[in-house]
Amino acid sequence: MSASVSVNDVFSDLSYYSLFDVAEKARWYMKDIAWDSIDKSLITPHLLEMVKQVAFGELTTYSATQSFMSMFEDDIDFTQWLAVWLYEETKHPHALVKWLSLNGVQLPGKYLKEGRIITPMTKSKVEMLTFNVISEIVAGSMYMTMSETMPEPVLKDITFKLGKDEMRHSVGFENYARRTIESSADPDYERSIVLRSAWVFLQTDQFINHPVFLTVRSLDGLGDSAGKKTRKQIASRISKLAGVDIPDPDHIYDVYIKFKNEHLAKRKARSAVAVPANA
Ligand SMILES: [Fe+2]
Ligand SMILES: [Fe+2]
Repeated sequence: MSASVSVNDVFSDLSYYSLFDVAEKARWYMKDIAWDSIDKSLITPHLLEMVKQVAFGELTTYSATQSFMSMFEDDIDFTQWLAVWLYEETKHPHALVKWLSLNGVQLPGKYLKEGRIITPMTKSKVEMLTFNVISEIVAGSMYMTMSETMPEPVLKDITFKLGKDEMRHSVGFENYARRTIESSADPDYERSIVLRSAWVFLQTDQFINHPVFLTVRSLDGLGDSAGKKTRKQIASRISKLAGVDIPDPDHIYDVYIKFKNEHLAKRKARSAVAVPANA
């Protein structure tokens, strides 16, 4: 069902307007960064290479926005919020590319172009939103860890700002995942999709290959404990979104299978009741 069908007052019924206010309060500007304070004595070729990698991992926003816009074209709420997300996400590689440039690194157009390539997205709206909740949590917690361990002060500040943005984005995607579930024909089926998506993600530890995570690991070995903390964070947020208790990230498969089976049993019982007695 299109989100626009049941909306009588866009300003109070759509979440975009309040999410926009939150984003404005949290907004940072490029001019807020003390670019003149870069400590060149702390810059190594290894660090430059890592920042290049992290910035590269931030370049998929254009292609992702394109896919989101066409998949959610009838969602008058989410598509407005995407404008804020696109703006903020474009600032992430921007800040990193500026830091690199001030440290003598030049990047060709090919770098930006290749960074935009994404793998085709899933056809399920809820799955797509769930993956984004998770990847924002991963990026957020990894930037935070990177900031905590970063000796170079300007990069420390940039990664802190980026980390806060990513965490806020995870809340935005979670809000739209919840709305999409609630307006669907079979919310419990969609909740089982949320659990399955999180299981796929945690099972394969996809976030281990996230450029930010790789960066943190290569910086000081804190990656493993950060990875554990991130798994727990993901499980706790997914538990709230699906409305199901997940006692441990390692048990998510069992939780998913139990929920799915219970849902199928309920659906079967409902269709049995719907069949006339003399059928
Ligand atoms: Fe980002
Ligand atoms: Fe983000």
